[in-house]
Amino acid sequence: MATPFYVTTPIYYVNDAPHIGHAYTTVAADALARWRRLWGDDVVFLTGTDEHGLKIQRAAEAQGVSPLEWADRTSQGFRDTWQLLDITNTDFIRTTEPRHAEAVQQFLQVVYDNGFIELATYEGLYCVACEAYYTEDELVDGLCPIHGTPVERVTEENYFFQLSRFTDQLLEHYTTHPEAVQPETRRNEVLGFIKGGLRDFSMSRTSLSWGIPLPWDPKHITYVWFDALFNYCTAVGYGHDRARFDRYWPATYHLIGKDILRFHAVYWPAMLMAAGEAPPQCVFAHGFLLVGGEKMSKTSANQIFPKDLVADFGVDGFRYHFLADQRFGPDGDFSHEAMVARYNADLANNFGNLANRVLNMATSYGDGPAPEARADGPLVAASARALEGTAAAFERLDFSGGLAAVWELIRAANSYIEAEEPWKLHKAGDADATAAVLGDCLEALRIIAVLASPAIPRACVELWRRLGLSGSPEDELLPDAVAWGRGPSGTRLDKGTPLFPRLES
Ligand code: MSP
Repeated sequence: MATPFYVTTPIYYVNDAPHIGHAYTTVAADALARWRRLWGDDVVFLTGTDEHGLKIQRAAEAQGVSPLEWADRTSQGFRDTWQLLDITNTDFIRTTEPRHAEAVQQFLQVVYDNGFIELATYEGLYCVACEAYYTEDELVDGLCPIHGTPVERVTEENYFFQLSRFTDQLLEHYTTHPEAVQPETRRNEVLGFIKGGLRDFSMSRTSLSWGIPLPWDPKHITYVWFDALFNYCTAVGYGHDRARFDRYWPATYHLIGKDILRFHAVYWPAMLMAAGEAPPQCVFAHGFLLVGGEKMSKTSANQIFPKDLVADFGVDGFRYHFLADQRFGPDGDFSHEAMVARYNADLANNFGNLANRVLNMATSYGDGPAPEARADGPLVAASARALEGTAAAFERLDFSGGLAAVWELIRAANSYIEAEEPWKLHKAGDADATAAVLGDCLEALRIIAVLASPAIPRACVELWRRLGLSGSPEDELLPDAVAWGRGPSGTRLDKGTPLFPRLES
């Protein structure tokens, strides 16, 4: 039976339209999902929208519509964007769906019955944009440390989740599972936060109505983060299909931005422990995508929308850039110029040229079937290295490293052509030598189409077709698919037009 692999993105707030920061996480999750499918895993890939809470209630009020109308509209914007970007999520969850409310209420009741929730009066400083309380000393110049906006003083009788009781259990978990928070810097941050002392947090609100009522005291509405985090369990069957839940839980990877690390690596595992469920296997927090050194936000009006970049670079050009341009971990700056330069260098020149020149020569030199690869050609070792390099890098979510390993093979094939000059061999009438070089290169292209398909699926499917292969690179299984010489002989080639036309800057 196939190995279960469960990857998630954060569920996005519906107060905002999807921008390239959201797309960054989602494209990475998609590349990972596609990569694991190539290894035959049974992949569940979840994304969705976070629709409750004060932030959304106020956004809807500002538009003069009901919160649900507002959520319907903006949630659809996320769906459409993911479809545009060829995202292969297997589910899309909305926290306003009945399946979610039911699952959250069942979960809450278990945590309550287990004695980890108590009623208390609370006065605190609340940031609506974060949907979180801060202490005086966490503020920067009296403002929210994340948004730089004023916080509100709120006094409420709330239910509290007793996070402080999980200090030892969390430390023990992260000591015995060092891989559970990545990268290392984020793990240290989480350990530091836990060791600094955990405070119980309020997990209900009476000041708003837009959310899920607590099952034992329905005038209290579940705190939006408590509700939101649980989406990961709802989607795999918590509360209505225990067998399915047990198959996919704990999640293999929660991919998140560093801004929501504390919620995912401290609150969330403790909440699960309180209900006797296992914490996620790995929370991987990446950095921000900055524009001109600043975080994108509606207020700074510096947001860049995927559809605008797709219009210039195509879907694969978009995906490739965000996977290859920066390591998946640290912050990175986005610039249009750098995107054009990378597109031209890697996609138009290296990848596109290799495909175009090999297919051009192979179709114009002989009108028969494609030449075969030699068993001991000079690209055999380069192909094996490409698989090893890609696998090692993708396994640590180093997408740029994985793509660099594929591009090494592309470079090796281009250098091989430069060195052998098959156009001269052809002119000299040496049909065997010409066929040998082109046969090797066609086989390398087949292997490249498989290994690059998680990042640039459209181009790889098209290349596959032009190579005369049946099916799609996405139906292949690693590692056998990239064994040298596995390509069928005698296929009919189609030279086609450039896969990635050059762009003017
Ligand atoms: N709704 C919460 C998450 C709940 S998960 C149970 C939330 N939503 S959000 O829409 O504000 O942001 C979600 C995620 O979007 C961030 O953690 C991050 O992954 C991504 N990003 C938003 N802006 C970003 C950048 N500028 N750069 C990179 N990622 C960013 O928080």
